[in-house]
Amino acid sequence: MIKTLEEHLKGIDNELAGLILKISELANIISSELPYRRGKADTKNVFGEVQLVIDKWADQFLIDEFKKSNLVKAVVSEEQPDIVKLNKDGIFNVTLDPLDGSSNIESNNLVGTIIGIYKKDLPCQGKHQIAAMYILYGPVTTLVYAAENGVHEFLYTSKGFVLREENIRIPEPGKLYGIGGLRKDWLPPFRKYIEGLEEDGYKLRYGGAFVGDFNQILHYGGIFAYPALATKPGGKLRLFAEANPMSFIAEKMGGASTNGSMSILEIKPESISQRVPIYIGNKGLVEKLEKTLI
Ligand code: AHG
Ligand code: MN
Ligand code: MN
Repeated sequence: MIKTLEEHLKGIDNELAGLILKISELANIISSELPYRRGKADTKNVFGEVQLVIDKWADQFLIDEFKKSNLVKAVVSEEQPDIVKLNKDGIFNVTLDPLDGSSNIESNNLVGTIIGIYKKDLPCQGKHQIAAMYILYGPVTTLVYAAENGVHEFLYTSKGFVLREENIRIPEPGKLYGIGGLRKDWLPPFRKYIEGLEEDGYKLRYGGAFVGDFNQILHYGGIFAYPALATKPGGKLRLFAEANPMSFIAEKMGGASTNGSMSILEIKPESISQRVPIYIGNKGLVEKLEKTLI
């Protein structure tokens, strides 16, 4: 029997269900705008990255819609330098990577939207998330949400988002690895660890969008990293917009995340625009790597 996202969400808190459903509708609109909002904007974000028209549009679109919905108190977005306060009486604080994988836009490869949901005021540790989700604009648009009731995946169809798999556990043993950054800049212990995985038959799959690369780990198991690099000791990915939501999902499905010494979800933030090295995937693989890096 087909189960829609709306039906599935009856198992969780009503207001949180409303927010997740709202985000699913907004994500479909972002997806439908991808063919039209093309090219570069002539601005940079707080990370010094050139923004695309779609990055800026999706960011403003989500913020404007959240403001209207009254559910959201404040937003931390990859595309905004400061916390954006929306509704004093809102219930949730939301983190946004409105469009992840911008460099894949030109070549029509995977992109998506990544969301973290908190009740606690931001900035705070990622472990305070009450839910996290991503929407992958792939050959089929898919949505994964994680909340107290587990991790679940939905496919977008003519009947809306319908359940594909519920209570997802990360496959054991894992099969894949995907690593960002130039290999020549990987630190020696990390390089040795990856060479070990290659010898054990792990296959390289790297697509250049965290949302797509993480989704492969969810389906096939293994490890994804955007590691500390000789040239960028803090890595590339953003703690709030990217690392925390995916780490919440990974840990909820029995996997693990680390910055090299502790779970990503335990990091005490210093700023909302902080980057972090991230290693995420099967628990055994992440724990072994952590021991190598210390
Ligand atoms: P964004 O498009 O939100 O700026 O994120 C890009 C990130 C992430 O999606 C991906 O894992 C990584 O950057 C890719 O970086 P490289 O181009 O260095 O591979
Ligand atoms: Mn991103
Ligand atoms: Mn982005």
